[in-house]
Amino acid sequence: MSTVKALILDPTTSEVTLRNIPKPTPATGEVLIRVRAIALNPVDGLFIAHPIATSDRVIGLDFAGVVEGAASDLETSTDKRTQTGARVAGFLQGACSGNFRPGAFAEYITAPYDLIWSVPDDMPLENASAVSMCGLTAAQGVFYRMGLPAPFADTASATSSQQAEPINVLVYGSSSSLGQYAAQMVNMAEKTSGRKIRLIGAASRAKHAFLSAAPFNYDVLVDYRDADWPEQVRKATEGAGVQYAVDSIAEGNTPALVESTLSEDGKFVTFVPHSPDDYDASKLRIQPVYGAVWEGLGEMVTFRPGMVFPADLKARAFAASFFDYLGSGGVKVVPNPIRLMPGGLENVVADGLALVSHAKVSQRKVQDRTEEYMRPISGEKIVYTIA
Ligand SMILES: NC(=O)c1ccc[n+]([C@@H]2O[C@H](COP(=O)([O-])OP(=O)(O)OC[C@H]3O[C@@H](n4cnc5c(N)ncnc54)[C@H](OP(=O)(O)O)[C@@H]3O)[C@@H](O)[C@H]2O)c1
Repeated sequence: MSTVKALILDPTTSEVTLRNIPKPTPATGEVLIRVRAIALNPVDGLFIAHPIATSDRVIGLDFAGVVEGAASDLETSTDKRTQTGARVAGFLQGACSGNFRPGAFAEYITAPYDLIWSVPDDMPLENASAVSMCGLTAAQGVFYRMGLPAPFADTASATSSQQAEPINVLVYGSSSSLGQYAAQMVNMAEKTSGRKIRLIGAASRAKHAFLSAAPFNYDVLVDYRDADWPEQVRKATEGAGVQYAVDSIAEGNTPALVESTLSEDGKFVTFVPHSPDDYDASKLRIQPVYGAVWEGLGEMVTFRPGMVFPADLKARAFAASFFDYLGSGGVKVVPNPIRLMPGGLENVVADGLALVSHAKVSQRKVQDRTEEYMRPISGEKIVYTIA
């Protein structure tokens, strides 16, 4: 039997080791992918430290690679993602589910062909690996949950080009991976609707120049470390308040502060489930809409204790249109800046996961390591090339 190397979590000990596993075989509708690059996310570390997997599991979400084969039902498919040699990217769920579903940190994986995207020729696979999971999360928040108009899917049109006043949209945590993609989605909504959007961001001051430029194009930036940042945001809206907000961080009382900037009929989304220790949700005028990216996979997901997402075919169809759009000619979304790490799968635990491993992005541990590549991360994705 042919075997491949993969990073496997033992959920009883939280240990991750590099092991040989059988080479996977694509099921109906799936392709076999030789993984060439992987990118790390905070949830990778979270569900290793606090496993919800109940059996040994390949870890990891984001990947990019090259198609090496397809299930027999795809033999006559002309979709370029099913063709041998196609350069593709996507994400799997791995250890972030109670259900048995292998992850992406392996030499070979399988994935449904319509939940991966065709990587443009001029985009290196390392950069492409940084897009899928956070890109889809941001698209779900901006288009699917808040209803801003998407260039690729039938979303409720929340804007009317007849109205002259700009729409105010806040992205809190603008320099985070999610925040960087959310801003690009908001720019797409502006282009799609033809209605001016005033894009307001909250990020550390050092990131303001980066975020003012393309592809983010913020109109107004505040520093979330200023105690009066919500007041600064309200002023920027000339008293109207923010109609749409994305809280990319949702830690401590950030959702309560974001909510305080909203107009009367404002909407906002978060991506971290509410903890009663953080703020009293019953005191909020407007409740955040929480969503998990896994819904886009269209499979039943047992997530945190008491949280089960039923298979959601509408969310899957949205994800499929988003990935189809990403691969439909030219660069549609600019990947986060990447930090290319030395080594491959064998270095992920000691180096990469050490950099992203803390559960809260606001409380990342400062490493006592002295190598340049182990400096704290901010606004970058940790990426490995898989030889
Ligand atoms: N529900 C879902 O499906 C889903 C999907 C993806 C991610 N998530 C969650 O979303 C969160 C963000 O993920 P990510 O990958 O985007 O994180 P990330 O890129 O690692 O975000 C780190 C950035 O957050 C900023 N930051 C830290 N504390 C902040 C604070 N208190 N206020 C504002 N900005 C702050 C820092 O920027 P500065 O340098 O400007 O300080 C840092 O660059 C994580 O908790 C992740 O688990 C959920």
